[in-house]
Amino acid sequence: MERMRTVVRGVGHNLPSQVVTNFDLSKFMDTSDDWIVERTGIRERRFVEPGTTTTDLALPAIQMACSRAGVTPQDCDMIIGATLSPDFFFPGIGTVLQNKLGMAHVPALDVRAQCSGLIYGLATADAYIRAGFAKRILLVCSEVQSPILERTNRGRDMAVLFGDGAGALIVEAQACAGGEAPSAKNNVRGVIDSIMGSDGSGAQLLFLKAPGSVVPGFMTQAAIDAGDIHPKMDGRVVFKNAVTRMVEAASNLLERNGISPSELDLVLPHQANLRINEAVREKLGVSEDRVFNNIQKYGNTTAATIPICMSEATEQGKLKEGQLVMTLAFGAGFTWGCNLIRW
Ligand code: ACO
Repeated sequence: MERMRTVVRGVGHNLPSQVVTNFDLSKFMDTSDDWIVERTGIRERRFVEPGTTTTDLALPAIQMACSRAGVTPQDCDMIIGATLSPDFFFPGIGTVLQNKLGMAHVPALDVRAQCSGLIYGLATADAYIRAGFAKRILLVCSEVQSPILERTNRGRDMAVLFGDGAGALIVEAQACAGGEAPSAKNNVRGVIDSIMGSDGSGAQLLFLKAPGSVVPGFMTQAAIDAGDIHPKMDGRVVFKNAVTRMVEAASNLLERNGISPSELDLVLPHQANLRINEAVREKLGVSEDRVFNNIQKYGNTTAATIPICMSEATEQGKLKEGQLVMTLAFGAGFTWGCNLIRW
């Protein structure tokens, strides 16, 4: 069988038009623009209008990715969805999108890796393509989180962090000419390497409890009253783990591919907190101009942050074909990881 590589052919994104500033949030809870900007870098985020679902939000992002790749969704033979905020508790967004997009009855699976969704999704797509199980995969990362945020003083630590948004990638199998696979040392386009990790001892340090089988009856009025239908986090512990794991994963990826941080053209980190990304950048020794951040405008859109960064960086001419690019994320689970890509 011919050796295959995984090339990102097109990226798209979509954000709701409703802008919610820090000042807007301060009308519902004791918070301030200063507090939020100083601790997170976030100035505003986008919220959907009531009734917009996660797959609704994804559709324009998919359309943009397809048009940039010069294909249609019907040309894809697999869907991978990544979200923590699906349309339904089950099934996942992959199958819902298969139907909405009028695609053939292709395999559709959902990745549940929260903020690491793009990294797990791309690593999974790469594995399927290299194994010969898929030729062109639609990878969709979409989140509608605004309805699950508790916009009161009790929920203010989480409510100020998150926003809604969607991103999509078309990834395609291409033959390795002469058997040469993408590497950090050649100019062959494609996914070079991925690292994924997890530590479930942190599951309840960043989670949404109900509905769930830990709740007697799956969902109860008591769970609603206790606020278990909203996400909860131990922010300080998550912050420390995020920095440690992201630095560890990126260092391992660079070392095993024989490259130094200065050889990276662009780093596309998850957008959870500007201070986390600053700490990681400094520890890795990557210069400021090689890290793309947009958390200031969108907050944390969980699985969607990295594809939105990819799409915007492309539009701004910062992400170009042939560049050596690293993605990097940490999130609930805990999960973390990174991909190394010759773009
Ligand atoms: N506005 C004003 N004050 C607030 C707010 C708010 N929105 N939220 C909390 N406070 C208060 C707290 O009650 C506390 O008050 P106290 O000192 O009187 O007790 C004080 O501000 C400090 O709170 P801390 O939690 O200690 O603040 P910290 O400096 O740690 O910043 C933050 C909090 C921004 C959440 C930070 O811990 C963080 O970014 N953590 C990591 C987030 C992250 O990476 N998440 C992972 C991805 S998310 C995912 O995977 C789904």
